[in-house]
Amino acid sequence: MGEINQLVASSRFDSSMRMGHINLILDFQEYVLGADLMTTKIVNLVSHPLVQHKLSLMREKGRSTKSFRELLNEIGMLLCYEVTRDLPLEMVDIDTPLAPMKAPQIAGKKLTLAPILRAGVGFLDGMLALVPSARVAHIGLYRDPVTFQAIEYFFKAPHDLSDRTVVLVDPMLATGNSACAAVALLKSRGARDIRFVCLLAAPEGIAQFQKEHPDVPVWTAAVDEKLNDHGYILPGLGDAGDRMFGTK
Ligand code: URA
Repeated sequence: MGEINQLVASSRFDSSMRMGHINLILDFQEYVLGADLMTTKIVNLVSHPLVQHKLSLMREKGRSTKSFRELLNEIGMLLCYEVTRDLPLEMVDIDTPLAPMKAPQIAGKKLTLAPILRAGVGFLDGMLALVPSARVAHIGLYRDPVTFQAIEYFFKAPHDLSDRTVVLVDPMLATGNSACAAVALLKSRGARDIRFVCLLAAPEGIAQFQKEHPDVPVWTAAVDEKLNDHGYILPGLGDAGDRMFGTK
């Protein structure tokens, strides 16, 4: 796994990668999954300097709850910009004050943002600031402290997920259990176009996630070295929910 991290770290700051986000997937999946499991879907590493800078601030252990929450919100906005980059547009007729014209607008039904409770809520305000008419699906999962399995305790989503783009959000992709369970729930409610946005990922989590849901692309600001024995990401930033809500 150290090799993966080296690959990611060296790739992230390569001068040829100044375009906002990187598709690392070919090399990356070869390391994580082996060439036989490579798929066409991708892990998008968001290398934008603002995202990287804000993430470094969030990692600092002395950062206040207020500041941590504000940064998570701001990064949520920046990641939302990236994950919506390829949404299809359609041309509609409008009138400017001077003339009629055909203008582009986002096609299809309104986007659904799906935060995994509770830490995923930290991304929500920032994302809603960019996409104010989005619907919101709340997914309540907690992690069994012994088995690390995700246990569902709440699910409330718009009825018709089948023709919506669903952006699942959770800051930490650690073991991958919560994200995998959340995607399974969304799929069981008909969702077919799902994208997953996190702030930090562990290689183990990415491998698990892509094994179970190879059709769901991932956006992350960083891939860290590994998980510790408690399922926390190293070096990571600690418990995102506790740091955001001041509950530690
Ligand atoms: N959840 C967190 O909040 N932090 C981790 O490092 C892993 C899971």
